[in-house]
Amino acid sequence: MQAQAAELIDDRCESCHNDYIFDGNWSVEDIDVSDIAHGKNLKRWESILKSVSMGDMPPAEKKPLTGEQKAALLHWLKDSLDSYSESHPNPGRAEKT
Ligand code: HEC
Repeated sequence: MQAQAAELIDDRCESCHNDYIFDGNWSVEDIDVSDIAHGKNLKRWESILKSVSMGDMPPAEKKPLTGEQKAALLHWLKDSLDSYSESHPNPGRAEKT
């Protein structure tokens, strides 16, 4: 699932989101699918989740993701973000025992 997501992002997002063009002020070079498990770049991954689920990305002039590709990417993203936040409850709200 993670490998599939990485491949999809490289294949379909990298043409605009790279270090040279830097559309939307981000590059696929700065993120890695292993980030989420380490709590890295969570804001970026959340914005990816949002833009793909809204159908904003890839842009309308580009070939859209198939339903299957989109579902797989969103499923993996949601699962990863959820499991990270479950195992890392809000800092600063640690329960006193
Ligand atoms: C044809 C070029 C192009 C491709 C391909 C593309 N994007 Fe974008 N993307 C843009 C541009 C331009 C912007 C900035 C303007 C905007 O937000 O519409 C952007 C903005 C974004 C943002 C930032 C939105 C925000 O609110 O900060 C995200 C996240 C994003 N793209 C994700 C993706 C993902 C994921 C893919 C691949 C599935 C993708 N993009 C493919 C051109 C592209």
